[in-house]
Amino acid sequence: MIPQTDPHISGGFKQAMRRVASTVNVITICVRGEPMGITATAMSSLAMDPPSLLVCINRTATLHASMEDVSHFSVNVLHRDQEYLAQMFADRNQRALRFASGWHMDCERPPRLLDAQASILCRRIDHHQFGTHSIFIGVVEDVVVRPDIQPLLYLDGSYRSADT
Ligand SMILES: Cc1cc2nc3c(=O)[nH]c(=O)nc-3n(C[C@H](O)[C@H](O)[C@H](O)COP(=O)(O)O)c2cc1C
Repeated sequence: MIPQTDPHISGGFKQAMRRVASTVNVITICVRGEPMGITATAMSSLAMDPPSLLVCINRTATLHASMEDVSHFSVNVLHRDQEYLAQMFADRNQRALRFASGWHMDCERPPRLLDAQASILCRRIDHHQFGTHSIFIGVVEDVVVRPDIQPLLYLDGSYRSADT
């Protein structure tokens, strides 16, 4: 059972999370040939055996329902030069523009962002609902990385790079 939210606790939690740096990721899927994606910071590695990760997606997000059906999703970790993509995949008004350029697309797999800091193809093996979100667990099947390590970060409500 999910306990009632105490406003004092939720305010404190928000302040705590402002002090936690996250990478910024675009999670992608392909549904009957149609690409879909969302900006998400709620991504974490889960285990090395097997290599696996989890992402947390709000149930109001457009791709949420399809995430429950697809066999695979991709986690595209953004490079610090890709803040515009973070904004685009978080803005419903820009939905039509999201896959206009810079993506490797085929009908079989989720879209892979060219020049991403890392693209991690996952087989979706499980999901759990919790409150407003669902947790999707993926087992890693393929990885492409960009050699330089300069991820886009999100900290204290704004986009940063590791050296600012
Ligand atoms: C920096 C940042 C991080 C976000 N992280 C998440 C997240 O981890 N999970 C999530 O469901 N939504 C997250 N969002 C919100 C979604 O990106 C946003 O609601 C998006 O518009 C939903 O996709 P849709 O417009 O296709 O429905 C984040 C937004 C921003 C700007």
